[in-house]
Amino acid sequence: MRKIPVMIDCDPGIDDSVAIMMLAASEKTEIKAITTTHGNVGLEGTTKNALALKDFLGIDCVVAKGAAKPMIVPLKDASTVHGVNGLGGYELPPAVSVAEKEPAWDVMYRLAKEADGEMVLVVLGPMTNAALTIMKYPDFGKYIKRIYMMGGSRDYGNHSQNAEFNIWGDPHACRVVLNSGIPITMADLRFGADYCFKGAELKEIFSHAKKLKPMLDQVIKHDHQWVKFAEAKAGRPMTYDEIETTVYDSTAAACLLLDGDCLETEDYYVICETQGTETEGQTIFDYKGHFGKEPNVQLAVRMDKEKYFDLIRTAVAHFE
Ligand code: BDR
Ligand code: CA
Repeated sequence: MRKIPVMIDCDPGIDDSVAIMMLAASEKTEIKAITTTHGNVGLEGTTKNALALKDFLGIDCVVAKGAAKPMIVPLKDASTVHGVNGLGGYELPPAVSVAEKEPAWDVMYRLAKEADGEMVLVVLGPMTNAALTIMKYPDFGKYIKRIYMMGGSRDYGNHSQNAEFNIWGDPHACRVVLNSGIPITMADLRFGADYCFKGAELKEIFSHAKKLKPMLDQVIKHDHQWVKFAEAKAGRPMTYDEIETTVYDSTAAACLLLDGDCLETEDYYVICETQGTETEGQTIFDYKGHFGKEPNVQLAVRMDKEKYFDLIRTAVAHFE
């Protein structure tokens, strides 16, 4: 079976790292490139983490640095969620590999062209690099089979009332990508929340790790910070085992790996708000056909939870 060539555009990031592990461990996919963006932490940090992960996991691919800031809006980060180093405080062994001299957009275009129309792009952070590639190379879409993205929200956001973090991080870039005509499968915030883990489930899944054990132990330790929020919401004492925890980017990797298996999607025309005073970065789903446009997104709505959990279990156990 020919492996699916994949480029991962990301901001590692704890959940980005889990998604990279899944795609590196799978027999279905071959990672051709990891490209980095501003996002969870600054570009220097996400690139350092991507290079360190590539070496630690033994992935044979290029790493290329992308955009240090969004197209128009001010730079934000999510270091409160991912820790100041982006990996929940865990320090991977320093990388020997170095980033390509070419920027992400040139690498993405070159590799996509070489892949005979089979290249899949997985976007796990703000969509700046994808948008810049589309703008610099108007025929880029011809060479991309599908984009699997974590981002957007069909209802409420996580970094503002309406916006999910990746889209809020660069709404203009999201708009470019949604308008590009490239087939898109979207794992939105709701999908990630629908497939969250109980703390005890995540601990069990991560307990299969060998080489990754120290890193994943630290992720769990870092994750304990959410207990007090869960307690405030529930109004009672709670343990880590019973709180719900999300690993958003892993759901986009799961969409790719479970497509044609158990993934169910619904087609929508989706556009991103870039001008709203309170709604910047909101992804608007045209539920009623108001815009009169053809669907541009397959929204992930269901998958087999056990198969998804098992993808992560198998991935963490894969690295020895
Ligand atoms: C997204 O935001 C980031 O913090 C995560 O890595 C994920 O890509 C979830 O909203
Ligand atoms: Ca991410």
